Amino acid sequence: MNTFFTWTKQDKALSLDLDHCEDHYFVSGDQRWLNLSSISYQTHFGLKNKFILKAIKEQMNAFSMASPKHNFKLKEAVSEELIKRTPSQQYKAFYTLSGAEGIENALKMARQITGKKKILALKNSYHGATMGALSITGDWRNDPHLLPRQWTMRLPEHHGDPEAIKLQKYLAKLKDSKAINDIAAICLETITGGNGVFIPSQKWMKTISTFCRQNNILLILDEVVCAAHRTGPFFGFEHYPFLKPDFIVMAKGISGGYIPFGAVLVSKKCAKYYDKNVLACGLTNYAHPLGLAATKAILELTTQEPFIKKKESNEETLVKWSQKLSLLGYTTRLKGSLMAVENVPFELKDLFQKGVFGAIQKGTLIMAPPLTLPKKHLENGLLTIEELL
Ligand SMILES: Cc1ncc(COP(=O)(O)O)c(C=O)c1O
Repeated sequence: MNTFFTWTKQDKALSLDLDHCEDHYFVSGDQRWLNLSSISYQTHFGLKNKFILKAIKEQMNAFSMASPKHNFKLKEAVSEELIKRTPSQQYKAFYTLSGAEGIENALKMARQITGKKKILALKNSYHGATMGALSITGDWRNDPHLLPRQWTMRLPEHHGDPEAIKLQKYLAKLKDSKAINDIAAICLETITGGNGVFIPSQKWMKTISTFCRQNNILLILDEVVCAAHRTGPFFGFEHYPFLKPDFIVMAKGISGGYIPFGAVLVSKKCAKYYDKNVLACGLTNYAHPLGLAATKAILELTTQEPFIKKKESNEETLVKWSQKLSLLGYTTRLKGSLMAVENVPFELKDLFQKGVFGAIQKGTLIMAPPLTLPKKHLENGLLTIEELL
């Protein structure tokens, strides 16, 4: 092999030979695998979505490169529409090519705007593979790199703390310490993605939100997995109506995986800082026209009746399936089309053998079926998994 496989020992890597894709299947010779994890949680709209492909092709014919200094209608329209999807609509858009770059830029801005260095984050988290994003990541992927831990402090986990008792204790101690003066931001996945679909309680999130407000600490929400309806509404944080994030970081689903693309919505209050201060952030392919075209297409597609109906029907199917698995004794967590099933008695290779492309983290199956997956295919996929259970 002339290429690396990511996050694995190369001689242990599990891989599939890919000839081509159908709408929701990877195909190799006469074998096919149903895409039940949306690859790595990004192909919300399937692998061959004609509407998105057409939008990208049309933009490619118009122009497919632009300078960060160029203004063009597409850039303005997508920014306006993304901002319109937020409850407060008080944001300004910054563009990237990935989730990690989004987190990097949010961290850089938060540190610059506040003049403080530290970030509070969870241990059970993943925020991206670049040095800054990985430094606040708490999961195993941070460990081999010895990243600057002195910039990160760990919040107690929300799992098992629905009344936010551990959190309140921790924050009260923090408030009385000197460390509070150097905390720029709290950075959280709104709902934990690949690390187990843990869903913070309203009380836990409210405690975070109040603490941020009372102590001039900015709130960065990592919506890389949640955004674009993965958990139901467009943003995951819409499940917590009181939340007013200063930074909303998106990638994955906002381009459906068709083009590497990401965005950070920065609150107007924070964005204002850069009216008179240099924005020391940027990248060559900033606001790439093809990424914008894909996002424009998904923003349109997600308002259309057939999409909404299919998404809601799949969410109902997953609710029923989750209830069924609970009766069989499995612990499940579900929000929208993002689901975890704990302690599954099979491995990824068993799933692959059964024709399912999925994700398993430390014995927990993570389900993130495409939002446009036809009901029959979803039900067949769930049946296949049930056979393995
Ligand atoms: C919650 C979360 N944040 C950030 C990232 C990083 O995104 P990317 O791989 O596009 O850099 C990921 C990737 O899996 C993620 O799951």
